[in-house]
Amino acid sequence: MPHWHPHRTHMMLPDEVSVNPLFSRDGEEAIPRFRLRDEGMLPETAYQIVHDEIAMDGNARLNLATFVSTWMEPQADRLYAEAFDKNMIDKDEYPQTAAIEDRCVHILADLWHSPHPHNTLGVSTTGSSEACMLGGLALKRRWQKARKAAGKSADHPNIVFSSAVQVVWEKFANYWDVEPRYVSITPDKPYLTPEGVLAAVDENTIGVVPILGVTYTGLNEPVAAIAAALDDLQTRTGLDIPIHVDAASGGFVAPFLQPDLLWDFKIPRVQSINASGHKYGLVYPGLGWVVWREAQDLPDDLIFRVSYLGGDMPTFALNFSRPGAQVLLQYYNFLRLGRDGYYKVQKSSQEVAHFLSRAVKDMGLFDLFTDGSDIPVFAWRLKAGHTANWDLYDLSRKLREYGWQVPAYPLPADMTDVTIMRVVVRNGFSMDLAHLFLEDLKQSVAYLESLDGPMPHTKESHASFHH
Ligand SMILES: Cc1ncc(COP(=O)(O)O)c(C=O)c1O
Repeated sequence: MPHWHPHRTHMMLPDEVSVNPLFSRDGEEAIPRFRLRDEGMLPETAYQIVHDEIAMDGNARLNLATFVSTWMEPQADRLYAEAFDKNMIDKDEYPQTAAIEDRCVHILADLWHSPHPHNTLGVSTTGSSEACMLGGLALKRRWQKARKAAGKSADHPNIVFSSAVQVVWEKFANYWDVEPRYVSITPDKPYLTPEGVLAAVDENTIGVVPILGVTYTGLNEPVAAIAAALDDLQTRTGLDIPIHVDAASGGFVAPFLQPDLLWDFKIPRVQSINASGHKYGLVYPGLGWVVWREAQDLPDDLIFRVSYLGGDMPTFALNFSRPGAQVLLQYYNFLRLGRDGYYKVQKSSQEVAHFLSRAVKDMGLFDLFTDGSDIPVFAWRLKAGHTANWDLYDLSRKLREYGWQVPAYPLPADMTDVTIMRVVVRNGFSMDLAHLFLEDLKQSVAYLESLDGPMPHTKESHASFHH
């Protein structure tokens, strides 16, 4: 849970939810909170109870912490409502939804320069987390097969990424018994470096995972340089270690804002790529994608076949049933925006990020960590040697008073002594809102600077933000 929320536990709440007498139709005054009621209630009453409770959630427009889309056009909302009954796995019952999923895969394969975009394989998922798990599983299976074919042990697989990797890769390593090898970020190079990769890999490495749009900072890790180092390693040693790019955010940004950046299937060593449809893909949660460079890069024995139009269709997923509506919304966005529309949306987010990051720098108290030039995310720290009565956690709490949700957190190993604050600029965070935010940021800082003693801190007040 993000640190700005008071930690509520269910122990602190009464066992019953009270019902406002104005809308209680059946005379309910209170209903059990943790137990299924014996009798039902009128739909209006049930609606009102849930509606009122979620009104306590944060305001999505003021949430500068999340990467996930919180707004789509009314036409997309209408489509969503028309399609919420579609189960993605029922390919036979909903063949057009299945066809649209397949179409989206090929559109992404083309966008990411697969050599054979019409023939390659890919799937939609609930988000990048599931997509990363699938990408990682394919790496593991490919490595196991190669090891067994060579008569070598396949007992100790490892996977290499930077210490700034998103938590899903830690989960992948844990759930699928793969040793995670973290290359620590450093103040000079706060991202995965070719040197760091070469020092970490060996014959048991199933793959290397650079990130396009590091969650903590918004940086793009240097995929091409890492691939070149691995090419060189192969020439010297024969070790052929593939790359999976975690492009959760960058996969929908780089093709439009950095079309010349070399990061995708143009690099032969990049075997698979994941991205979140629900981040810069601009679709409501939860939608992710994973695409393989070519069909043969997804080991055949991981593929299951489901019935489809009298034949069968290959699938690879952790879930069976899953909503299909988000896939249709992704296709809606592809049609609605095209390359030009995606460019305009991402560019305007980047302009807001540049405007705000410059303004934060000009305040004189902060050093920018990133300015929004990779993905439209920027981060800053208090200037080294700054001795004030407050820190970035206090600033985060102060901003919360204005409604803004802006997390502060420590960087990962080996930079845990550096605390940064991050703003994710998404579609809908307009220049107007940015001006309002800047005003509130300045007022918050002015208040904190005017304190005549240090802000009191409890042990809990620096609990970390969960990425
Ligand atoms: C780099 C990276 N990978 C993976 C994920 C997990 O993505 P999702 O939230 O779509 O499951 C995230 C989410 O922030 C991310 O930033």
